[in-house]
Amino acid sequence: MISVQTFTKRKQQNRKISMVTCYDFWSAKIINQSDIDCILVGDSLAVVMHGFDSTVHATLDMMKMHVAAVVRGAPDKFVVADMPFLSCSKGINVGMDAVHELMQTGASAVKIEGAAHQADLIAHIVEAGVPVMGHIGLTPQSIHNLGGHKVQGKSEGDAQKLIDDAKRLEQAGCFSIVLECIPNKLGDCVSRAVSVPTIGIGAGPHTDGQVLVLHDLLGADPDFCPKFLRRYANVNQLVAGALNGFHEDVRNQSFPALEETYG
Ligand code: KIV
Repeated sequence: MISVQTFTKRKQQNRKISMVTCYDFWSAKIINQSDIDCILVGDSLAVVMHGFDSTVHATLDMMKMHVAAVVRGAPDKFVVADMPFLSCSKGINVGMDAVHELMQTGASAVKIEGAAHQADLIAHIVEAGVPVMGHIGLTPQSIHNLGGHKVQGKSEGDAQKLIDDAKRLEQAGCFSIVLECIPNKLGDCVSRAVSVPTIGIGAGPHTDGQVLVLHDLLGADPDFCPKFLRRYANVNQLVAGALNGFHEDVRNQSFPALEETYG
């Protein structure tokens, strides 16, 4: 399993970090066999696994249940757990209680969206011995404030703010920072501005690592095709094909065959 120290070393050695989301036991088992560096149990599970329209609906109980399943399936991987919506905005005690529960569920680190208003809590969590991954740029928990899934940091002022936010997160003690949906050039600038690795999603090729939602990279939803996404499989077609194959074999009575029965 990689460690927080490995993250720093990877940046120094210019070796990119790969991260994917994972929410369940059986896909965690597959990721555990793969070369992927680390797993994010993202609050995107509220959308992907539970069918909500935003990550605002992820709860601490949901996060804990999915983290536990993933940790059971991928004991050899570094697992980052997302802090759910508003769990960091109700005071340090509430935030620390959530961190406590997620870490005792088996996570290796937590991820927190936002910068300026989270810096004190992040410093406190890091001081308590828990690694924190930051997350700036497009922060889906603030979707109602951002007015939708839009590329962030396009104006000079917004770009500078993002660079300042990244520095602030580094100062607070984050061991790495997710950069979501920002222009390539800004991804480069932010990555150069901090000594901790940046992990991009829609942030161009210059970040120190890349993260994708597992279901997106596997092609689970043919209708979801943002510009930054590369699909590595067509799971939608594969699964539908397998299901229709089973259906057909049941209908034409070729399943089960004699060798698939107890004689
Ligand atoms: O919840 C999530 O899946 C995320 C990634 C998109 C970075 O935060």
